[in-house]
Amino acid sequence: MARILGVSSSPRKKSGTEYMVKLALEEAEKMGMDTELVSLRNRKINPCIHCDKCIRENMDRCAIWEDGMTPLYDVFYQADGYVFGSPVYEMGVNSQMAAFYDRFRAVWMVLQKDYKFFYNKVGGALAVGGARSGGQEFTILRIHNFYSTMGITIATMGAPQYNGATGWSNGGTFEALLEDETGLNQARMLGERVALAVKKMSG
Ligand SMILES: Cc1cc2nc3c(=O)[nH]c(=O)nc-3n(C[C@H](O)[C@H](O)[C@H](O)COP(=O)(O)O)c2cc1C
Repeated sequence: MARILGVSSSPRKKSGTEYMVKLALEEAEKMGMDTELVSLRNRKINPCIHCDKCIRENMDRCAIWEDGMTPLYDVFYQADGYVFGSPVYEMGVNSQMAAFYDRFRAVWMVLQKDYKFFYNKVGGALAVGGARSGGQEFTILRIHNFYSTMGITIATMGAPQYNGATGWSNGGTFEALLEDETGLNQARMLGERVALAVKKMSG
């Protein structure tokens, strides 16, 4: 069965981002997808130090750190689709998400062997901000850029949400996010969108 990996980079226990990623995954499950949610909360991920040991040793994962990132390589490589969500920090992804991304330096070696490795995988993005227009779209684009570095096919949304699902927590509370019906609905639609594309692409 095709599998969709959801990643939430929020460090908070009552997180709107995680909630929206879950909504997307629930929708994907209704479409017959297997799903898995990974939270970066409490997961220690060291920053990439650009030592390039992974590249010199032709590895598909980090060659120097054993940390919270270690088990995520296989989970990531084996998934058929992705729903990544980040809270908006300073109008972009938070540092937890950035650290997660940077640790994929070794993907260069995966693509050297097979540049099409990610072509039939599909990624969608969502972001939750405290302000109504606080940088959700920039954050989503940053997630899309990560997908682009791999060759992952990006799931766009069309009208009215265009590039992904945007949540508004009106100052940063979980309760307020629950009242953002528009954003929650977009998350559901994103899950459906990714699942439909995965179905087509994974045959
Ligand atoms: C360091 C920091 C920077 C933030 N920057 C922004 C911002 O640029 N735009 C915005 O709309 N909200 C910003 N916020 C608010 C969070 O995006 C908001 O509280 C969001 O709901 C957090 O999502 P979560 O509940 O999933 O953790 C910031 C919060 C923090 C802690």
